[in-house]
Amino acid sequence: MLTAYDHSSARVAERAGVDLILVGDSAAMVVLGYSTTVPVTVDEMLMLTAAVTRARRRALVVADLPFMSYQVSNEDALRTAGRFLKEAGADAVKLEGAGPMLPRIGALAEAGIPTIAHLGLTPQTATSQGGYRAQARTAQGALQLLHDAHAVEAAGAFALVLEAVPAAIAARVTRELGIPTIGIGAGVDCDGQVLVYHDLLGLGEGHLPRFVERYADLGDLAVEAVERYAADVRERRFPQERHTYAIDDDELAHFARLLEQGAPVVIDEGEAL
Ligand code: KIV
Repeated sequence: MLTAYDHSSARVAERAGVDLILVGDSAAMVVLGYSTTVPVTVDEMLMLTAAVTRARRRALVVADLPFMSYQVSNEDALRTAGRFLKEAGADAVKLEGAGPMLPRIGALAEAGIPTIAHLGLTPQTATSQGGYRAQARTAQGALQLLHDAHAVEAAGAFALVLEAVPAAIAARVTRELGIPTIGIGAGVDCDGQVLVYHDLLGLGEGHLPRFVERYADLGDLAVEAVERYAADVRERRFPQERHTYAIDDDELAHFARLLEQGAPVVIDEGEAL
């Protein structure tokens, strides 16, 4: 699983053959420039999801339900998730948490809306978890995670994202659950893995969590390319002849003659300069 937030990133994911594309609400930070995932709206996420699904060929597209678009009631969850499927073409949705969110997962499953649960570090409520930090690092915390994992499976989730939890605990959860786990900072024993597109490709700036592997430095490449473009423009090395359109010599001469003769330049129907 890889995140994607627009047509071109989704095309990259498709061409690379990833199985699941997540239109994560990490879009809030990596695409829209918010400092957390909290502010992103349903409409913003719908627009990004629709751009992704227009690029879909075979991957399953999962849309993140934004913060406070599903927490208040099952009705909210159903209406929001329904919009992602009907208006944006998503195949499935993802939401964060267990406990009070279990009825939401149940309602979505009953309505036939495939739902992925997300446990461990849950960025929408990271403040109440004490910040962006690894979870389930105590025996009690690990037990709670295992309990929640069983509960989201029983409620009807078809997969579970585990974020920033010890590898040994994620391995145990993965062994015990019948549904697949997808890890991000949760070790190699999860059934699948997910990374944020911009992190994987080195397109972002600033601190990266330890669980990120950067497979390319496209951000640096992009800056270098744009610097060369800007220098070429300033030095008039771009555009060159091969980038421009020609006009027949005869037409050009005719044009010059017309100007010399003071031919009117028509700018609007019936109006002349
Ligand atoms: O929003 C997101 O990108 C996510 C992944 C990090 C799992 O939820």
